[in-house]
Amino acid sequence: MTKNTETVGVIGIGYVGLVTGTCLAELGNQVICMDIDAEKIADLKDGRIPIYEPGLEELVASNKERMTFTTALSDIFEKCTIVFIAVDTPPTFTGDADLSRVFQVMSALPGVSREHHILVMKSTVPVGTGNKIVAELSRQENTRIDYVSNPEFLREGSAIGDFLHPDRVVIGSRDPEAGERVAALYQGLNAPILKTTIPTAEMIKYASNAFLATKISFINEIANVCEEVGADVTLVADGMGYDERIGKHFLQAGIGFGGSCFPKDVTALKQLAGNSGYHFQLLTAVIEVNELQKRRVVNKLQKHLGALTDKTICLLGLAFKPNTSDLREASSIVLASRLMGDGAFVKAYDPVAIPWAAKAVRGILLCDDVISCVEGSDALVLVTEWDEFADLPLEEIKAKMKNPLIIDGRNFLDPEKIRAAGFTYEGIGRA
Ligand code: UGA
Repeated sequence: MTKNTETVGVIGIGYVGLVTGTCLAELGNQVICMDIDAEKIADLKDGRIPIYEPGLEELVASNKERMTFTTALSDIFEKCTIVFIAVDTPPTFTGDADLSRVFQVMSALPGVSREHHILVMKSTVPVGTGNKIVAELSRQENTRIDYVSNPEFLREGSAIGDFLHPDRVVIGSRDPEAGERVAALYQGLNAPILKTTIPTAEMIKYASNAFLATKISFINEIANVCEEVGADVTLVADGMGYDERIGKHFLQAGIGFGGSCFPKDVTALKQLAGNSGYHFQLLTAVIEVNELQKRRVVNKLQKHLGALTDKTICLLGLAFKPNTSDLREASSIVLASRLMGDGAFVKAYDPVAIPWAAKAVRGILLCDDVISCVEGSDALVLVTEWDEFADLPLEEIKAKMKNPLIIDGRNFLDPEKIRAAGFTYEGIGRA
């Protein structure tokens, strides 16, 4: 792999920023990571990683010579000419992306632009944002700052692999030279580099996430129909996936997509279209199907248990997907609230997310392991397909549960094995 030797700044050391900074260091660059959260920066200086991402702690440690952490924006602009922006762009009440953190960075620029800088936008920003920033820079007659859109395509849980072995790198720029300098950072990665305009790069990001989310809502609706007609969605998806135009990925039916990206980005794209006068009907349906899907387990439980008042339901998995501690927009949270709303008592276990859940959710009894979680429960619901749930100790679980019912929200378990152990089993879209 070709090694690069830039000094690169990263502003916003959340999930994307930390992975980006660490991987850029791994590629040989000196990296200065800046965040306004002093506690987070102090932790990172001591080698403590604020999120759970497989391989990240080790990679930060092995690159510690090339990484520094600071709370001072001026450090970045004094020492780096390429500066990545990776601050949060959470949804506002209207569904638009909140760009206030991006603009906080922008407002600090005029005072620090003595040298020529390239600002590289990693945060997901609505299409048109880059051009607005470029227009603002030229209004300020700030010719010393170039702007490049370089969206991220990192999946939580496999972000390091995704960064170092990308399917593609997208670089949107107005000035070809600035685009080239950013592209050079990725040169050793053996991936196609697409050079586009800024709005096109911004749209590639939104369209990619919206398309993947659409695939999930589509297969979830197929699953719901499968239940009506006695078909098995896992085999349907497999059969569809052999067609290369469809592909096998993102056709796993379940209890809906969550996380910090799909729900936010699909809503923001719908909103963006609406703001410019176009009603994006398909995305409206994608969002609605997903919301209903998160609640679908409730009907299944009622079918088997009757009214849920005073029933004890055990959730295995809280994170929005395996290999992450992230609970944002997780199906578990919606499901637990719905169950508690119906008067059920909810217990939950997650291999990693419990400390985060302790801060984020109320009313759920958080357990230390599977066995204490299933104890006394009327049903077990598999919410997140963590590897450690693949081979559950069924005998022991059955002995501890009040009623042997398993609802598999991710079609992850082996129905035959579970039924053979004396449980009632129900998945999503398969009998
Ligand atoms: C997603 C995209 O996959 C990344 O390419 C993108 O960079 C990222 O958002 C982002 O915008 O930052 P991520 O949110 O980490 O990544 O997670 P995914 O693996 O895409 O899964 C999202 C959700 O969809 C999870 O809740 C997962 O359980 C669900 N899912 C996924 C399904 O229900 N079925 C599937 O077939 C696949």
